[in-house]
Amino acid sequence: MIPNFGHYDHRACRRWHILRGVINPKTPPSADLPPIWAPGAADPDKPSTARVRDYWLGGVHNSAADRRLGEQFTLCAPQLPYLVRTHRNFLRRVVTRLVRDGVHQFVDLGSGMPTAGNVHKVAQRVNPECRVVYTDIDPVVVAESRELLAGDDRTTYLHADLRRPEQILDSPDLRGLLDLDEPVALLAIDMLHHVLDSAGPAQLLTTYADALGPACQVALSHTYRDERMLDALRLYSDIYNKPLPEFAFRSAAEVGDLLAGFEVSEPGLVPIPLWLPDADTEPDQNPEHFSGCAALARRR
Ligand SMILES: C[S@@+](CC[C@H](N)C(=O)[O-])C[C@H]1O[C@@H](n2cnc3c(N)ncnc32)[C@H](O)[C@@H]1O
Repeated sequence: MIPNFGHYDHRACRRWHILRGVINPKTPPSADLPPIWAPGAADPDKPSTARVRDYWLGGVHNSAADRRLGEQFTLCAPQLPYLVRTHRNFLRRVVTRLVRDGVHQFVDLGSGMPTAGNVHKVAQRVNPECRVVYTDIDPVVVAESRELLAGDDRTTYLHADLRRPEQILDSPDLRGLLDLDEPVALLAIDMLHHVLDSAGPAQLLTTYADALGPACQVALSHTYRDERMLDALRLYSDIYNKPLPEFAFRSAAEVGDLLAGFEVSEPGLVPIPLWLPDADTEPDQNPEHFSGCAALARRR
């Protein structure tokens, strides 16, 4: 249950942070509240899909306008919040496993906002030395995220189009933060449906992996193209009179094709709930029918 507090309600946010163990109830108010909003960059009256995602993930970086947009989406596609949480749970499991296996550096493609259990939070919980390069094409997401990450010198956030690998791979910020002689993991979590086949997503993955060193591992999760999802998108577009961009939701076989240049690690390319579930994984009634898959792979 997500509390319905306004984004500037300091006391409600404090209670929320205390309940979640983010801050210590004994420390004085005002001194200890982590940033929950990026007042400089964000217009809370203008909803953002990145903040809707935060809302569905139980985060606090969302406004009433974002929550309203979230309700509109779920009227058309009630499965969306669960889909988003399932991708995020995969992120948690795969990042935790990579850090335990000795990978301490991450490049995250199409990161969205680094709230609600994102890469650096998960990785640094296991090893505080972990470093993360976040990237996104959306300038508003980038600006808000940079404010959220201010003061964290083990993360950086690049404004980049992943279809132009040089914007990421040649970035002085990336080169300054990461040691490419040490293992790096490339993450593409729930975002490759934004990369149409015409952009050559399989080739892009190999370009990144080759540039990030021989030990590079790629973790990806991808939502399937299913009729329910396409109907929901059409319904949303019709009801709210909003044109939607073209998406490339793919079948399991097509996601497998994206990994043609890679050796997929155990347990293979599988429905997301079946990728090494742990005690914290949300139970799924029919995990083998889940509408999306995930894999961890390394270059052949
Ligand atoms: C569905 S969100 C997923 C965010 C995040 N990976 C997660 O798991 O929560 C997809 C993100 O990809 C970004 N994106 C879309 N096309 C992109 C591109 N060509 N280059 C970089 N980012 C892109 C969007 O702006 C959006 O923030």
